[in-house]
Amino acid sequence: MSKEWFNENFEVMLSRETIESRTKELAEKISAEYSTEGVVAVGILRGCFMFFSELIKNMNCPTQVDFMYVSSYGDAATSSGVVKIEKDLQTNIAGRHVLLIDDIIDSGLTLHNLREMLMVRKPKSIKICTLLDKKVPRKIAVEADYKAFDVENYFVVGFGLDYKQFFRNMNFIGKLKDGRQDELDRLIESTTS
Ligand code: IMP
Ligand code: MG
Repeated sequence: MSKEWFNENFEVMLSRETIESRTKELAEKISAEYSTEGVVAVGILRGCFMFFSELIKNMNCPTQVDFMYVSSYGDAATSSGVVKIEKDLQTNIAGRHVLLIDDIIDSGLTLHNLREMLMVRKPKSIKICTLLDKKVPRKIAVEADYKAFDVENYFVVGFGLDYKQFFRNMNFIGKLKDGRQDELDRLIESTTS
């Protein structure tokens, strides 16, 4: 699978350079906020990993890193949803400033519920930083305190975001090109079966 393979299948929406320079700007703002009291940067796996690393290495304030792995069962009818913690924090966040870092806010259920669950642990603050904010009506109100980009309501892939658990390693954010889906589905099917 050559580098060009990604470009043949995905239309570039946000290039690597665009993402990197915008992330640097965000990192500077975030650093200013936490420069005196420090922050626990919490990455929400798996989608966060590339953005998390890009952001964190440009931050310049006392920072601890930790990760959570959650699964989310949305329920459109009741505007609620259940978040299950599959892997919890190793860090005690009581009295600490926490920054949740995720790849994308879509319905908002995951981050809303996760934030509620973490509030119980009495952190000093919890804020949200997302790479992408999808322009869809939220199922539940949650706004990012820091966001790199807005995206329209289509399925995006790359820079941590997956299509059927593949292509998270693409170094840009792209949209599947028209007519490529069947071929990719066959490829994934043959790779995983
Ligand atoms: P929500 O905000 O609870 O709906 O869930 C957000 C999660 O859904 C993200 O962390 C992603 O894992 C996944 N997701 C939502 N939209 C996309 C997309 O366009 N591409 C890839 N994953 C997505
Ligand atoms: Mg995710």
